[in-house]
Amino acid sequence: MDTSELNLLPPEIAEASRAFEAQLAACDSLDALMRLKGAFTGREHSHAARLMEALKAAPKEQKKALGALANQLKNAWEEAIRGRLEALEAERKRQAALAARVDPDLPPPMPLQGALHPLQRLQDRIVDIFSALGFHVEEGPEIETEAHNFDGLNIPGDHPARGSSDTFYLEQHPELLLRTHTSPVQVRVLRRLAPELESRGGIRFVAPGRVYRKDDIDPTHSPMFHQVEGMLVGKGIGMHHLKGTLEYAMRALFGPATRIRLRPSYFPFVEPGAELDVSCPLCGGSGCRVCKGSGWVELLGAGLIHPNVLAYAGIDPAVWSGFAFGLGVERTAMMVSQTPDLRLFFENDQRFIRLMGGLD
Ligand code: FA5
Repeated sequence: MDTSELNLLPPEIAEASRAFEAQLAACDSLDALMRLKGAFTGREHSHAARLMEALKAAPKEQKKALGALANQLKNAWEEAIRGRLEALEAERKRQAALAARVDPDLPPPMPLQGALHPLQRLQDRIVDIFSALGFHVEEGPEIETEAHNFDGLNIPGDHPARGSSDTFYLEQHPELLLRTHTSPVQVRVLRRLAPELESRGGIRFVAPGRVYRKDDIDPTHSPMFHQVEGMLVGKGIGMHHLKGTLEYAMRALFGPATRIRLRPSYFPFVEPGAELDVSCPLCGGSGCRVCKGSGWVELLGAGLIHPNVLAYAGIDPAVWSGFAFGLGVERTAMMVSQTPDLRLFFENDQRFIRLMGGLD
Protein backbone atom coordinates (compact mmCIF):
# COMPACT_ATOMS: atom_id res chain seq x y z
CA MET A 1 0.00 0.00 0.00
CA ASP A 2 1.53 3.30 -0.98
CA THR A 3 1.54 6.38 1.20
CA SER A 4 -0.77 8.29 -1.16
CA GLU A 5 -3.45 5.72 -0.43
CA LEU A 6 -2.92 6.24 3.30
CA ASN A 7 -3.75 9.90 2.71
CA LEU A 8 -7.33 8.83 2.06
CA LEU A 9 -7.61 7.67 5.68
CA PRO A 10 -8.53 9.82 8.68
CA PRO A 11 -5.16 10.96 10.10
CA GLU A 12 -5.33 9.05 13.44
CA ILE A 13 -6.03 5.79 11.59
CA ALA A 14 -3.21 6.44 9.14
CA GLU A 15 -0.95 7.06 12.16
CA ALA A 16 -2.10 3.81 13.84
CA SER A 17 -1.59 1.88 10.64
CA ARG A 18 1.97 3.10 10.34
CA ALA A 19 2.68 2.05 13.98
CA PHE A 20 1.03 -1.37 13.60
CA GLU A 21 4.08 -3.43 12.58
CA ALA A 22 6.23 -2.18 15.45
CA GLN A 23 3.45 -2.68 18.01
CA LEU A 24 2.83 -6.20 16.73
CA ALA A 25 6.48 -7.09 17.00
CA ALA A 26 6.52 -5.82 20.60
CA CYS A 27 3.71 -8.21 21.62
CA ASP A 28 5.59 -10.92 23.46
CA SER A 29 2.63 -12.40 25.31
CA LEU A 30 -0.82 -13.61 24.43
CA ASP A 31 -2.31 -10.89 26.63
CA ALA A 32 -0.51 -8.09 24.81
CA LEU A 33 -1.49 -9.55 21.46
CA MET A 34 -5.17 -9.76 22.46
CA ARG A 35 -5.09 -6.10 23.50
CA LEU A 36 -3.60 -5.14 20.14
CA LYS A 37 -6.20 -7.24 18.34
CA GLY A 38 -8.99 -5.44 20.22
CA ALA A 39 -7.51 -2.04 19.41
CA PHE A 40 -7.19 -2.74 15.67
CA THR A 41 -9.87 -5.19 14.64
CA GLY A 42 -12.33 -5.30 17.58
CA ARG A 43 -16.06 -4.93 16.90
CA GLU A 44 -16.32 -1.59 18.68
CA HIS A 45 -13.98 1.37 19.27
CA SER A 46 -11.26 -0.21 17.16
CA HIS A 47 -9.42 1.35 14.27
CA ALA A 48 -11.33 -0.99 11.90
CA ALA A 49 -14.67 0.10 13.41
CA ARG A 50 -13.75 3.77 13.10
CA LEU A 51 -12.69 3.12 9.50
CA MET A 52 -16.18 1.77 8.74
CA GLU A 53 -17.71 4.91 10.25
CA ALA A 54 -15.38 7.06 8.14
CA LEU A 55 -16.42 5.03 5.07
CA LYS A 56 -20.10 5.67 5.75
CA ALA A 57 -19.48 9.39 6.13
CA ALA A 58 -17.17 9.68 3.11
CA PRO A 59 -18.31 11.55 -0.07
CA LYS A 60 -19.64 9.24 -2.78
CA GLU A 61 -16.67 9.58 -5.11
CA GLN A 62 -14.22 8.44 -2.41
CA LYS A 63 -16.30 5.52 -1.14
CA LYS A 64 -15.00 2.92 -3.60
CA ALA A 65 -11.30 3.59 -3.06
CA LEU A 66 -11.70 4.02 0.69
CA GLY A 67 -13.80 0.84 0.92
CA ALA A 68 -11.15 -1.18 -0.88
CA LEU A 69 -8.45 0.29 1.32
CA ALA A 70 -10.40 -0.39 4.52
CA ASN A 71 -10.88 -4.03 3.54
CA GLN A 72 -7.27 -4.43 2.59
CA LEU A 73 -6.07 -2.90 5.86
CA LYS A 74 -8.42 -4.95 8.03
CA ASN A 75 -7.39 -8.20 6.30
CA ALA A 76 -3.72 -7.33 6.61
CA TRP A 77 -4.09 -6.59 10.32
CA GLU A 78 -6.05 -9.80 10.94
CA GLU A 79 -3.59 -11.95 9.06
CA ALA A 80 -0.56 -10.42 10.79
CA ILE A 81 -2.18 -10.91 14.21
CA ARG A 82 -2.99 -14.56 13.35
CA GLY A 83 0.61 -15.08 12.29
CA ARG A 84 1.94 -13.58 15.51
CA LEU A 85 -0.46 -15.72 17.55
CA GLU A 86 0.85 -18.86 15.88
CA ALA A 87 4.43 -17.79 16.49
CA LEU A 88 3.74 -17.11 20.18
CA GLU A 89 1.96 -20.46 20.56
CA ALA A 90 4.87 -22.28 18.89
CA GLU A 91 7.33 -20.56 21.23
CA ARG A 92 5.24 -21.48 24.28
CA LYS A 93 5.21 -25.14 23.18
CA ARG A 94 8.95 -25.08 22.57
CA GLN A 95 9.59 -23.70 26.08
CA ALA A 96 7.26 -26.28 27.66
CA ALA A 97 8.99 -29.12 25.79
CA LEU A 98 12.35 -27.78 26.90
CA ALA A 99 11.23 -27.69 30.52
CA ALA A 100 9.87 -31.23 30.33
CA ARG A 101 12.86 -32.56 28.46
CA VAL A 102 14.12 -35.90 29.75
CA ASP A 103 17.77 -36.72 29.52
CA PRO A 104 17.93 -40.52 29.60
CA ASP A 105 21.60 -40.38 30.60
CA LEU A 106 20.83 -38.64 33.92
CA PRO A 107 20.14 -40.75 37.04
CA PRO A 108 16.46 -40.73 38.01
CA PRO A 109 15.43 -38.17 40.65
CA MET A 110 15.95 -39.78 44.05
CA PRO A 111 13.68 -39.10 47.01
CA LEU A 112 15.49 -37.19 49.76
CA GLN A 113 16.74 -39.75 52.27
CA GLY A 114 16.55 -39.09 55.98
CA ALA A 115 19.24 -40.25 58.39
CA LEU A 116 19.76 -40.47 62.11
CA HIS A 117 21.20 -37.34 63.71
CA PRO A 118 25.00 -37.53 64.31
CA LEU A 119 24.48 -37.30 68.10
CA GLN A 120 22.04 -40.20 67.97
CA ARG A 121 24.49 -42.25 65.91
CA LEU A 122 27.34 -41.56 68.32
CA GLN A 123 25.11 -42.42 71.27
CA ASP A 124 24.14 -45.69 69.56
CA ARG A 125 27.79 -46.41 68.96
CA ILE A 126 28.71 -45.86 72.62
CA VAL A 127 25.83 -48.12 73.67
CA ASP A 128 27.01 -50.79 71.21
CA ILE A 129 30.51 -50.73 72.70
CA PHE A 130 29.12 -51.48 76.16
CA SER A 131 26.56 -53.98 74.84
CA ALA A 132 29.49 -56.03 73.59
CA LEU A 133 30.68 -56.17 77.23
CA GLY A 134 27.33 -57.50 78.42
CA PHE A 135 25.75 -54.19 79.51
CA HIS A 136 22.02 -54.05 78.73
CA VAL A 137 20.17 -50.83 77.95
CA GLU A 138 17.93 -49.05 80.45
CA GLU A 139 15.88 -45.89 80.11
CA GLY A 140 14.46 -43.45 82.60
CA PRO A 141 11.99 -40.54 82.40
CA GLU A 142 13.20 -37.03 81.65
CA ILE A 143 10.79 -35.65 84.28
CA GLU A 144 12.11 -37.04 87.55
CA THR A 145 11.41 -36.87 91.25
CA GLU A 146 13.80 -35.19 93.65
CA ALA A 147 14.10 -38.58 95.32
CA HIS A 148 15.55 -40.26 92.22
CA ASN A 149 17.58 -37.31 90.94
CA PHE A 150 19.10 -36.34 94.33
CA ASP A 151 18.10 -38.25 97.51
CA GLY A 152 18.75 -41.73 96.18
CA LEU A 153 22.13 -40.52 94.96
CA ASN A 154 23.31 -39.35 98.36
CA ILE A 155 23.01 -35.69 97.28
CA PRO A 156 22.16 -33.78 100.48
CA GLY A 157 19.26 -31.31 100.71
CA ASP A 158 21.56 -28.30 100.82
CA HIS A 159 23.67 -29.30 97.79
CA PRO A 160 23.88 -26.37 95.32
CA ALA A 161 22.79 -28.56 92.36
CA ARG A 162 19.38 -28.90 94.06
CA GLY A 163 18.75 -25.17 93.92
CA SER A 164 16.36 -23.64 91.38
CA SER A 165 19.29 -21.68 89.94
CA ASP A 166 20.82 -24.93 88.60
CA THR A 167 17.79 -27.15 88.09
CA PHE A 168 14.53 -26.78 86.14
CA TYR A 169 11.67 -27.55 88.54
CA LEU A 170 8.08 -28.00 87.35
CA GLU A 171 6.11 -24.96 88.49
CA GLN A 172 2.90 -26.84 89.33
CA HIS A 173 4.76 -29.78 90.92
CA PRO A 174 7.79 -28.50 92.83
CA GLU A 175 8.81 -32.04 93.79
CA LEU A 176 9.30 -32.83 90.08
CA LEU A 177 12.17 -31.63 87.90
CA LEU A 178 13.86 -32.16 84.55
CA ARG A 179 16.59 -34.65 85.38
CA THR A 180 19.99 -32.98 85.62
CA HIS A 181 21.89 -36.17 84.75
CA THR A 182 21.18 -39.78 83.79
CA SER A 183 22.27 -40.97 87.26
CA PRO A 184 18.66 -41.25 88.59
CA VAL A 185 18.37 -44.28 86.30
CA GLN A 186 20.89 -45.90 88.69
CA VAL A 187 18.41 -45.51 91.55
CA ARG A 188 15.48 -46.86 89.52
CA VAL A 189 17.36 -49.89 88.18
CA LEU A 190 19.05 -50.76 91.48
CA ARG A 191 15.70 -50.70 93.30
CA ARG A 192 13.95 -52.72 90.61
CA LEU A 193 16.63 -55.38 90.29
CA ALA A 194 17.72 -55.53 93.96
CA PRO A 195 15.59 -58.61 94.67
CA GLU A 196 17.13 -60.47 91.71
CA LEU A 197 20.68 -59.42 92.36
CA GLU A 198 21.84 -62.78 93.72
CA SER A 199 20.14 -64.83 90.98
CA ARG A 200 21.44 -62.53 88.23
CA GLY A 201 24.94 -62.57 89.70
CA GLY A 202 25.09 -58.76 89.44
CA ILE A 203 23.91 -55.93 87.20
CA ARG A 204 25.45 -54.09 84.28
CA PHE A 205 23.60 -51.55 82.21
CA VAL A 206 23.99 -48.35 80.23
CA ALA A 207 21.31 -45.64 80.20
CA PRO A 208 21.49 -43.05 77.41
CA GLY A 209 19.24 -40.00 77.32
CA ARG A 210 18.57 -36.29 77.51
CA VAL A 211 19.34 -34.21 80.56
CA TYR A 212 18.69 -30.56 81.45
CA ARG A 213 20.55 -27.91 83.41
CA LYS A 214 20.25 -24.16 83.79
CA ASP A 215 23.58 -23.69 82.05
CA ASP A 216 24.06 -20.73 79.72
CA ILE A 217 24.68 -21.68 76.12
CA ASP A 218 28.33 -21.42 75.08
CA PRO A 219 30.70 -23.47 72.88
CA THR A 220 30.87 -26.29 75.47
CA HIS A 221 27.55 -25.95 77.31
CA SER A 222 23.92 -26.38 76.41
CA PRO A 223 20.89 -26.33 78.76
CA MET A 224 19.80 -29.63 77.16
CA PHE A 225 22.39 -32.27 76.37
CA HIS A 226 22.83 -36.04 76.33
CA GLN A 227 24.58 -38.40 78.68
CA VAL A 228 25.25 -42.10 78.73
CA GLU A 229 25.19 -43.52 82.25
CA GLY A 230 26.95 -46.80 82.94
CA MET A 231 26.79 -49.01 86.00
CA LEU A 232 28.11 -52.37 87.10
CA VAL A 233 27.32 -54.12 90.38
CA GLY A 234 29.01 -57.29 91.49
CA LYS A 235 31.12 -58.71 94.26
CA GLY A 236 34.62 -57.42 94.90
CA ILE A 237 34.40 -54.70 92.25
CA GLY A 238 37.19 -52.12 92.49
CA MET A 239 38.74 -49.19 90.65
CA HIS A 240 40.77 -51.58 88.49
CA HIS A 241 37.52 -52.92 86.97
CA LEU A 242 36.36 -49.38 86.28
CA LYS A 243 39.66 -48.41 84.75
CA GLY A 244 39.91 -51.53 82.56
CA THR A 245 36.33 -51.15 81.30
CA LEU A 246 36.72 -47.46 80.46
CA GLU A 247 40.10 -48.00 78.81
CA TYR A 248 38.55 -50.64 76.55
CA ALA A 249 35.60 -48.37 75.72
CA MET A 250 37.74 -45.29 75.02
CA ARG A 251 40.00 -47.27 72.70
CA ALA A 252 36.95 -48.60 70.86
CA LEU A 253 35.74 -45.00 70.53
CA PHE A 254 38.92 -43.04 69.79
CA GLY A 255 41.32 -45.67 68.46
CA PRO A 256 43.70 -48.32 69.88
CA ALA A 257 46.51 -45.88 70.76
CA THR A 258 44.27 -43.96 73.19
CA ARG A 259 45.45 -43.68 76.79
CA ILE A 260 43.30 -42.79 79.77
CA ARG A 261 43.91 -41.35 83.21
CA LEU A 262 41.67 -41.03 86.25
CA ARG A 263 41.92 -37.87 88.35
CA PRO A 264 40.39 -37.70 91.83
CA SER A 265 37.10 -35.80 91.84
CA TYR A 266 33.98 -35.52 93.93
CA PHE A 267 30.45 -36.77 93.22
CA PRO A 268 28.29 -37.56 96.28
CA PHE A 269 27.14 -40.89 94.78
CA VAL A 270 30.59 -42.43 94.30
CA GLU A 271 33.53 -43.04 96.61
CA PRO A 272 36.24 -42.70 95.47
CA GLY A 273 35.17 -40.40 92.68
CA ALA A 274 37.17 -39.56 89.59
CA GLU A 275 37.16 -37.73 86.34
CA LEU A 276 38.41 -39.55 83.29
CA ASP A 277 40.71 -37.88 80.76
CA VAL A 278 41.64 -39.42 77.42
CA SER A 279 44.82 -38.65 75.53
CA CYS A 280 43.87 -35.96 73.02
CA PRO A 281 42.40 -37.68 69.93
CA LEU A 282 43.66 -34.84 67.73
CA CYS A 283 47.36 -34.59 68.68
CA GLY A 284 47.76 -37.97 70.35
CA GLY A 285 48.98 -36.34 73.57
CA SER A 286 51.68 -33.96 72.35
CA GLY A 287 49.55 -30.88 73.02
CA CYS A 288 47.37 -28.83 70.65
CA ARG A 289 44.56 -26.29 70.46
CA VAL A 290 41.86 -28.84 71.26
CA CYS A 291 43.52 -30.08 74.48
CA LYS A 292 44.81 -26.56 75.25
CA GLY A 293 48.38 -27.86 75.17
CA SER A 294 47.90 -30.40 77.98
CA GLY A 295 47.68 -33.54 75.79
CA TRP A 296 44.53 -34.65 77.70
CA VAL A 297 40.82 -33.97 77.41
CA GLU A 298 38.25 -34.48 80.14
CA LEU A 299 35.36 -36.70 79.17
CA LEU A 300 33.34 -38.12 82.02
CA GLY A 301 32.73 -38.53 85.74
CA ALA A 302 33.02 -41.93 87.39
CA GLY A 303 33.77 -43.82 90.61
CA LEU A 304 32.85 -46.71 92.89
CA ILE A 305 29.20 -46.70 93.90
CA HIS A 306 28.77 -45.03 97.29
CA PRO A 307 27.53 -47.49 99.98
CA ASN A 308 24.63 -45.10 100.73
CA VAL A 309 23.39 -45.44 97.14
CA LEU A 310 23.36 -49.24 97.39
CA ALA A 311 21.70 -49.12 100.81
CA TYR A 312 19.00 -46.63 99.57
CA ALA A 313 18.10 -49.19 96.91
CA GLY A 314 17.95 -52.04 99.44
CA ILE A 315 21.28 -53.61 98.50
CA ASP A 316 23.77 -54.63 101.18
CA PRO A 317 27.00 -52.66 100.58
CA ALA A 318 28.90 -55.16 102.72
CA VAL A 319 28.23 -57.81 100.05
CA TRP A 320 27.89 -55.86 96.83
CA SER A 321 30.03 -53.20 95.26
CA GLY A 322 30.30 -51.64 91.83
CA PHE A 323 31.25 -48.76 89.64
CA ALA A 324 29.35 -46.08 87.74
CA PHE A 325 30.19 -43.47 85.16
CA GLY A 326 28.41 -40.71 83.25
CA LEU A 327 29.64 -39.47 79.89
CA GLY A 328 28.57 -36.33 78.01
CA VAL A 329 27.60 -37.26 74.43
CA GLU A 330 28.03 -33.76 72.94
CA ARG A 331 31.48 -33.35 74.46
CA THR A 332 32.46 -36.78 73.14
CA ALA A 333 31.07 -35.87 69.71
CA MET A 334 33.19 -32.71 69.76
CA MET A 335 36.26 -34.83 70.45
CA VAL A 336 35.52 -37.53 67.89
CA SER A 337 34.74 -35.00 65.15
CA GLN A 338 37.06 -32.20 66.31
CA THR A 339 34.17 -29.76 66.35
CA PRO A 340 35.03 -26.68 68.41
CA ASP A 341 31.44 -25.65 69.23
CA LEU A 342 28.68 -28.01 70.38
CA ARG A 343 25.96 -25.59 69.21
CA LEU A 344 26.67 -26.79 65.67
CA PHE A 345 25.08 -30.12 66.63
CA PHE A 346 21.77 -28.42 67.44
CA GLU A 347 21.59 -25.87 64.65
CA ASN A 348 21.03 -28.64 62.11
CA ASP A 349 22.70 -26.91 59.20
CA GLN A 350 22.52 -29.63 56.54
CA ARG A 351 26.09 -28.94 55.42
CA PHE A 352 27.41 -29.60 58.93
CA ILE A 353 25.18 -32.64 59.48
CA ARG A 354 26.47 -34.14 56.21
CA LEU A 355 30.07 -33.51 57.23
CA MET A 356 29.36 -35.43 60.41
CA GLY A 357 28.72 -38.56 58.36
CA GLY A 358 32.14 -39.65 59.61
CA LEU A 359 30.99 -39.85 63.24
CA ASP A 360 30.20 -43.54 62.90
C1 FA5 B 1 27.49 -35.93 86.15
O1 FA5 B 1 26.48 -35.53 85.59
C2 FA5 B 1 27.50 -37.22 86.89
N1 FA5 B 1 26.16 -37.73 86.99
C3 FA5 B 1 28.43 -38.19 86.17
C4 FA5 B 1 28.74 -39.40 86.99
C5 FA5 B 1 28.00 -40.56 86.83
C6 FA5 B 1 29.77 -39.36 87.95
C7 FA5 B 1 28.28 -41.68 87.57
C8 FA5 B 1 30.03 -40.49 88.70
C9 FA5 B 1 29.30 -41.63 88.49
P1 FA5 B 1 28.99 -33.94 85.37
O2 FA5 B 1 28.14 -32.85 85.93
O3 FA5 B 1 30.47 -33.73 85.43
O4 FA5 B 1 28.70 -35.32 86.07
O5 FA5 B 1 28.55 -34.17 83.86
C10 FA5 B 1 29.03 -35.26 83.13
C11 FA5 B 1 29.43 -34.83 81.72
O6 FA5 B 1 28.34 -34.17 81.09
C12 FA5 B 1 30.54 -33.81 81.68
O7 FA5 B 1 31.80 -34.45 81.76
C13 FA5 B 1 30.35 -33.17 80.35
O8 FA5 B 1 30.87 -34.02 79.33
C14 FA5 B 1 28.85 -33.19 80.19
N2 FA5 B 1 28.22 -31.90 80.48
C15 FA5 B 1 28.00 -31.31 81.68
N3 FA5 B 1 27.35 -30.15 81.55
C16 FA5 B 1 27.14 -29.98 80.23
C17 FA5 B 1 26.48 -28.98 79.44
N4 FA5 B 1 25.86 -27.92 79.99
N5 FA5 B 1 26.46 -29.13 78.10
C18 FA5 B 1 27.02 -30.21 77.53
N6 FA5 B 1 27.63 -31.19 78.21
C19 FA5 B 1 27.70 -31.09 79.55
